[in-house]
Amino acid sequence: IFKPRNIIVTGGCGFIGANFVRYVARNHPDVRITVLDKLTYAGNPQNIAGLPQSQVELVQGDICDVALLERIVPGHDAIVHFAAESHNDNSIANPEPFITTNVEGTFHLLEAARKHDVRFHHISTDEVYGDFALDDPCKFTESTPYKPSSPYSASKAASDQLVRAWVRTYGLRATISNCSNNYGPYQHVEKFIPRQITSIMEGVRPKLYGTGENVRDWIHTEDHSSAVWEILTRGRIGETYLIGADGEMSNIAVMRMILRLMGCAEDAFDWVRDRPGHDRRYAIDSSKLRTELGWKPVHTDFEAGLQATIAWYAANRAWWEPAKAATEARYRAQGQ
Ligand code: NAD
Ligand code: DAU
Repeated sequence: IFKPRNIIVTGGCGFIGANFVRYVARNHPDVRITVLDKLTYAGNPQNIAGLPQSQVELVQGDICDVALLERIVPGHDAIVHFAAESHNDNSIANPEPFITTNVEGTFHLLEAARKHDVRFHHISTDEVYGDFALDDPCKFTESTPYKPSSPYSASKAASDQLVRAWVRTYGLRATISNCSNNYGPYQHVEKFIPRQITSIMEGVRPKLYGTGENVRDWIHTEDHSSAVWEILTRGRIGETYLIGADGEMSNIAVMRMILRLMGCAEDAFDWVRDRPGHDRRYAIDSSKLRTELGWKPVHTDFEAGLQATIAWYAANRAWWEPAKAATEARYRAQGQ
């Protein structure tokens, strides 16, 4: 068992990173956390507000800044790497920052971890495996071949391969996890579930891409956090673990559920232009993580989780309102 004392969490002011920082702060008060975050449009210091200053420190900076890494990495015993450009639609409109942050940034972190002999955990996505046809009953496993579809997923696939090479060639103490679609509090309004919830709250009809038949495998971000903690502390070095909670749902089913839970007619949405290259279905087989490390998800009632997420967005308008107009302007320009 690895007992981290002093960790760096990159991207700790983003959606999943911030939920992980909160999870660690709550469950492991003896662990000190340095959040390294560039605070892009997707990063918000409020996401980690209210945590004890003695435990959590925010360093605003870029994972591509080698001099900064040289200054802050020594003295830490692990890096948990969440920082990324994370949104597929943005990667289609402008792929460049995805290559810089996701590929080059991961390279610089790996070099810093190698130099200072720091344990590394890399957060990745099931999208590196591509997709399945809607009628294909298969699920992704750790041995599914890589076949990314979008600039975003290709950049994440590239970063995973770098981590594997650093393990094999340099003996870096690293693990990788590939997780399915997360939902929960602090998710940016550009993503599917928060976009629809906040549009309805503003009296705007929500938008469904293509036929709406695409399937995503939903997991509550809190379950992602517990899985990452288990892998960081008890995972085998050099291994990849898939994280998922058997939460497959079509987009149109999620859309109707949101509308119903918010007291609207289930057909009160607009059909819009499909995403180019839109992946059809993701599905995770998380048996390895469950049998080897004994992990299991707790938030498996999707409807209850969605209801709580809607309540969170209702209670936190001041958090999301500033980002909403600019996000919708970007979508409008793309016909979405
Ligand atoms: P997010 O976009 O909400 O947050 C990303 C964070 O990274 C932001 O705080 C941003 O400021 C920071 N960041 C971006 N570029 C940076 C840079 N160059 N240097 C330092 N910080 C930088 O993303 P998210 O949805 O929380 O995703 C976090 C991670 O989890 C990503 O690696 C993503 O690929 C992965 N992932 C996401 C999902 C999902 O459903 N959202 C599922 C599986 C894996
Ligand atoms: O599978 C893990 C991935 O999940 C992560 O790696 C990504 O970082 C994360 O953004 C997410 O990617 P998706 O592309 O699946 O998520 P997104 O929220 O953008 O869209 C979910 C589905 O909903 C997708 O099929 C597209 C559709 N969609 C999206 C939006 C924003 C709509 O139908 N309407 C919308 O307005």
